Amino acid sequence: MLENFIRQPEKQPDLLALVKKLCHRVSIVFGGGFVEITFDGKIVLVTGGSRGLGRALVEAFLENGASVVTCARHADELETAVGALQERFGDRITGWVADIREADAMEQLVHVAQEHFGGLDILVNNAAFSHSGTGLSLTDEQWEDEWQMKSMAVVRGARAAVPALRTRGGGSIITISAVFDKQPDARFYASSVVRAGVLGLTKLLARELAPDHIRVNAIGAGLIHTPSWEKRYDPTTSSLKRYLEETARAYDVAVQRLAEPEEVANAVLFLASDAASYITGTQLDVDGGLARYL
Ligand SMILES: NC(=O)c1ccc[n+]([C@@H]2O[C@H](COP(=O)([O-])OP(=O)(O)OC[C@H]3O[C@@H](n4cnc5c(N)ncnc54)[C@H](OP(=O)(O)O)[C@@H]3O)[C@@H](O)[C@H]2O)c1
Repeated sequence: MLENFIRQPEKQPDLLALVKKLCHRVSIVFGGGFVEITFDGKIVLVTGGSRGLGRALVEAFLENGASVVTCARHADELETAVGALQERFGDRITGWVADIREADAMEQLVHVAQEHFGGLDILVNNAAFSHSGTGLSLTDEQWEDEWQMKSMAVVRGARAAVPALRTRGGGSIITISAVFDKQPDARFYASSVVRAGVLGLTKLLARELAPDHIRVNAIGAGLIHTPSWEKRYDPTTSSLKRYLEETARAYDVAVQRLAEPEEVANAVLFLASDAASYITGTQLDVDGGLARYL
């Protein structure tokens, strides 16, 4: 078959398409068996999917067969992102305007998944932004914001999602956290503090939900090349490439670069898949060697 493709140059685009399709299916060897990472028929809620890591997560789940609900606060950007994905994946993706700081947002999003796709299998708590400032300079409102986005949305997300996951016989909850939860960093002051609590929540929820076959894990992200970094860079003082290199140096990242969103999304796919069936209550660090804790 391969020879035919090679002898007939006009067929080479078909070969490329075939290779691309096969490469989207990841297989992991397990003591004599293979587990294919596929999400065919699975229903996933990823918060904050209009750009950055969330956008990559949505695409990764879609590429691997899932149906996805996502959200963001800004309708235009969400519509553009979801529209582009609908062109490729049809009605397996839907986007809703929601602010996860609001008390009923997570419940509404779970409801959307149920109404639109008939249930929920995987919740990925991704949406958030960070306030800059220190213990003394951050205002009460900023602390409250961080608390609502990074902690309460996870609590409310679990509360809303668990009945739906139970109906499907189990599932997975993954929170995108940061290595700064274990290695506090003043440059992500409030995030370091709030996310440390969320790591405790991950461990406790994992125990609480294990009897329901629901696994609860977190990703300890290092630095990811997303628009959140591009926003901080001043084009009048350096090139983006140089800014990102300097950032990696400033945080002493072992691999001397930021992660691409797809590199973090791959780890999320693994945690959400059956290949991680014995992993719960864990934080998987995807940080290019940034963190120094043992
Ligand atoms: N980038 C990094 O280096 C890094 C490192 C460690 C951890 N993380 C974590 O990774 C996650 C994604 O970060 P990112 O860099 O991809 O951020 P990003 O590029 O700023 O994207 C954030 C996404 O979340 C949405 N969002 C933000 N606040 C929201 C809210 N209150 N309600 C609903 N949607 C909201 C945004 O849309 P709207 O603005 O329209 O709401 C957008 O879709 C965050 O939890 C972040 O803390 C990032």
